[in-house]
Amino acid sequence: MNDNLHTLRCFGCGARISGGEARPDFRCADCGDLFEVEYSGWADRKDHNRPNAGALRWLWRERRCSGELLDRSGVWRFRELLPILENFGNAVTLQEGNTPLYALPRSAKALGLDQLYAKHQGMNPTGSFKDTGMTAALSVARERGFEWVACASTGNTSAAMAAYAARAGMRSLVLIPEGKIAWGKLSQAMDYGAVTCQLNTDFDGCLRVLLEIVREAPIYLLNSMNPYRLEGQKTPALEIAEAFDWNVPDHLIVPGGNLANSSALGKGFKEMKELGLVSRVPKISVIQAEGANPLARYMSARGEKEFKPVEANTRATAIRIGNPASWKKAARVVEETGGSCLDVTEAEIAIAKADLGAEGLGCEPASAVTLAGLKKLRAQGAVGDGETVVLLLTGHTLKDADYTIDFHRGTLLQPDEAAGREVEIAKLRRNAISVEATPAAVLSAMKDIPA
Ligand code: F0G
Repeated sequence: MNDNLHTLRCFGCGARISGGEARPDFRCADCGDLFEVEYSGWADRKDHNRPNAGALRWLWRERRCSGELLDRSGVWRFRELLPILENFGNAVTLQEGNTPLYALPRSAKALGLDQLYAKHQGMNPTGSFKDTGMTAALSVARERGFEWVACASTGNTSAAMAAYAARAGMRSLVLIPEGKIAWGKLSQAMDYGAVTCQLNTDFDGCLRVLLEIVREAPIYLLNSMNPYRLEGQKTPALEIAEAFDWNVPDHLIVPGGNLANSSALGKGFKEMKELGLVSRVPKISVIQAEGANPLARYMSARGEKEFKPVEANTRATAIRIGNPASWKKAARVVEETGGSCLDVTEAEIAIAKADLGAEGLGCEPASAVTLAGLKKLRAQGAVGDGETVVLLLTGHTLKDADYTIDFHRGTLLQPDEAAGREVEIAKLRRNAISVEATPAAVLSAMKDIPA
């Protein structure tokens, strides 16, 4: 069976190559830009390769009741939209995807919105959205006969890669910035047996070193410059459309780090529209941390300046990235869909994370930028009262428990960071208290804490 129907198209100069011709760093030999996976004929209604929208919707729903391993994956369930393997039998899956879409009634009320949801990608097998991309790209690596895979990471990519490599019986190499990733993520890379190297540099530095390594040794690069990662990461867009009965929300709000996820989701919606699965696409907005905001800076100064990397610094370590590889793709998604790109402060991130926690939904700090960004978009009038909004939560709360504990203990933010927000923060904080081991003391402690 040959399921493979794709070519790679350079995002910069438009050059087309076959999958096997890609260089180890996945950069275009002519212009140095990144590739994206293209499926010919999808935009042409008469082309025989064009999948049929009605049949697909039916098939994908049927697969939800199937016991087949591939059908149980929320990525490979949609495999007609990612024909990237010679044989789907080579797919390495941990039954990723099919993540929950939760209503957020408290935040919706506070923001004066009727319809606010969180698509929780932290509910994936390794606790982040990276699993959806990893199942796709690591399957390609396996099919092409690689023994080693590698990534530079702020923690989640490495956790996902290490797990999928272990499942496939492959070796994995992780480069992480020493002391700058959350412990939960580091523990996962160790647990899944990766060779984990902590380098005395930042994420961008780790990536630079890795690119030199993959040019020299037969190691398959699994950073998001690898276009197959994005094919897996576009599938939450399909799940969202399916959950809204093939209508789409008005807004989708996504955190921005290396900027692959926003690019992938934009691609997913664009392809669904081309294929007639949906009639429009949501406005896709990207939110960055103020200390790691190169796209937000670039897009606010549109037309005036070159894109400039920044020295990144934020406690939302997952998105502590100053030189994002996929910035051009993400900028195009934001522009084409009519979304925005903003940044939010450390205090705004911490408050938004606690707001979500108070709704029973934990997430990583990097995920909480979405709610912080929505508050700003609402204040700017960019999101209307009657509009439907989906926040993409990217990581599980237990990835970075230290952050949560520091917030509730009151040790996370410096006084200048929290200035002006003290009352709001005090209302959200729920520090653990030491109480005498008697019922009377516990009952009295309960009375002292406001609801
Ligand atoms: N949220 C979380 C929890 C992440 O781990 C990342 C990226 C992002 C958001 C940003 O996504 O890079 O596609 O814009 N983490 C990467 C990693 C870089 O190495 O785990 P992006």
